[in-house]
Amino acid sequence: MARFTLPRDVYHGKGSLENLKSLKGKKAVIVVGGGSMKRFGFLDRAEAYLKEAGMEVMIIDGVEPDPSVTTVMNGAAKMLEFNPDWIVAMGGGSPIDAAKAMWIKYEYPECTFEDMCKVFGIPELRKKAHFCAIPSTSGTATEVTAFSIITDYDKGIKYPIADFEITPDVAIVDPDLAETMPQKLTAHTGMDAMTHAIEAYVSTANCDYTDALAIHAIEMIQADLVDSYNGDMAARARMHNAQCLAGMAFSNALLGIVHSMAHKTGAIFADYGAHIIHGAANAMYLPKVIAFNAKDPTAKKRYGVIADYMKLGGANDDEKVAALIKYLRGMNDDLKIPHCIKNYGADSYPTEQGFVPENVFLERLHDIAVNAIGDACTGSNPRQPSVEEMEKLLKCCYYDTEVDF
Ligand SMILES: NC(=O)c1ccc[n+]([C@@H]2O[C@H](COP(=O)([O-])OP(=O)(O)OC[C@H]3O[C@@H](n4cnc5c(N)ncnc54)[C@H](O)[C@@H]3O)[C@@H](O)[C@H]2O)c1
Ligand SMILES: [Zn+2]
Repeated sequence: MARFTLPRDVYHGKGSLENLKSLKGKKAVIVVGGGSMKRFGFLDRAEAYLKEAGMEVMIIDGVEPDPSVTTVMNGAAKMLEFNPDWIVAMGGGSPIDAAKAMWIKYEYPECTFEDMCKVFGIPELRKKAHFCAIPSTSGTATEVTAFSIITDYDKGIKYPIADFEITPDVAIVDPDLAETMPQKLTAHTGMDAMTHAIEAYVSTANCDYTDALAIHAIEMIQADLVDSYNGDMAARARMHNAQCLAGMAFSNALLGIVHSMAHKTGAIFADYGAHIIHGAANAMYLPKVIAFNAKDPTAKKRYGVIADYMKLGGANDDEKVAALIKYLRGMNDDLKIPHCIKNYGADSYPTEQGFVPENVFLERLHDIAVNAIGDACTGSNPRQPSVEEMEKLLKCCYYDTEVDF
């Protein structure tokens, strides 16, 4: 028995932002990030559409990339004062994820962050507000997913909140918003989407409903990501749809240990100068995890199917897995993403010596491995790693060495 949940309405295509006019309610809060939505005029347009729909509008801005628990709590306090019946979150994964967590706290003020992190343990929402999400990056697909990723900076750990209760009611996937993405953001978010689709396809929770979405997303991302990165706006528009399809797949099929590892390494080296940006972490770890998971016969077959759809050749599943790994590494090269943490520079570009010193990585390795195994995404990975295997895998991701275990 399984459940497949998506937003009730997904408006898509150029100009679809205008559908905000059709929301029915009295008060809407718009949650945005650091300023790109304001700068490019989308925030003003959204506000005007909601006012046209007869709503009073309040804006919560300044949600930082990889939002913190504090940001969530502060935003929820503002919502409790304003009392909106619509929460409209617009921007990258960060403001939309933060708004989802604010939503929980707004509906259940007594709910703590620890309560929110209980997987599939969120109480029934929509007693106070409905939720509309409008992505401006082509990657996280949080506009259609049951997830929100919030960072506890005291612990340096990202926590996924997971429950179909936080799947938005309305998603507006307007490619106009993605046109302003700089190259680096296009690369990282695009590889995040590729990782979503591939992890969903080999997840132990995959099903016929999610497979169709995952495979089509993979084909689209293969066709369009590098062109989108190089400035082709028709490809960028298709990528906006592709990432959303990938999201529909993984929200229902769940993910795997690429994400577990990305969640547990993303903020843990912040004291050494930078985050490992989510999509870049995924792009670096995905080829390593494919090699590890392919020891599982079912996963190997499924990677083979992906390679077939991508027309990568290969006479048997081993060759197909190798071709898939090679192709993904080639995409990283095209997108100027390094292959390992050691070469991950503070600006996220490949460099001879990255910002995470070897001794610091090795010191923290054991804890990262334990935390990654405990991540909510590990349970649906096709091969369950031991702590020792996870440490070895993380080392391969640090040094770019071959996974032969
Ligand atoms: N909820 C989920 O299902 C899910 C899935 C994957 C990742 N995530 C989380 O999402 C976060 C990453 O989100 P993201 O990759 O979308 O980036 P982001 O939201 O963190 O934004 C990154 C930067 O890009 C800017 N930006 C956003 N859109 C822009 C545009 N159109 N033009 C110019 N600049 C723009 C932002 O202002 C910000 O400075 C991470 O915290 C990650 O863990 C969530
Ligand atoms: Zn992701």
